[in-house]
Amino acid sequence: MNDKEPPESLDFSWSDTFVLGYQPMDNTHREFVEIVNELIDCPDHDFLLSLEKFKVHALSHFGLEDQWMKETEFPAGDCHIGEHAAVMASFEEVYALAKQGDTDTGRGFARELKNWFPGHADYLDSALAHWMFKRTHGGKPVVLRRTIKETNL
Ligand SMILES: [Fe+2]
Ligand SMILES: [Fe+2]
Repeated sequence: MNDKEPPESLDFSWSDTFVLGYQPMDNTHREFVEIVNELIDCPDHDFLLSLEKFKVHALSHFGLEDQWMKETEFPAGDCHIGEHAAVMASFEEVYALAKQGDTDTGRGFARELKNWFPGHADYLDSALAHWMFKRTHGGKPVVLRRTIKETNL
């Protein structure tokens, strides 16, 4: 690793900007942020373990969202389901390489996830969160966001 590179995880702490207002999804997204940070920062000897933890998380996270879309006949869910599948396909490639000792590719994957998540959450997850919230509560969620970014979570 190049010592001159800035720490990668500093700008990927959980913040209210990620809150979508549907609690089950927000809880999962908090866990996603935690695990991706762990993938970026953990020591090399823990990397494989962190990847395995990511897999358990991602199968449940994406699986649940896919299930919601299918069970509730969410309109235009194909693109969203496709993005989840693409992440899992990349994961399998990265995981195979990591098992052979290549952690660099996996770290790159983790940094890609960090860049991918805000757009995915804003564009695709938020529509699903609104849809699910409406089904359970009969209206759009009201999201109150603090202006101060949380730094210690
Ligand atoms: Fe999500
Ligand atoms: Fe999603």
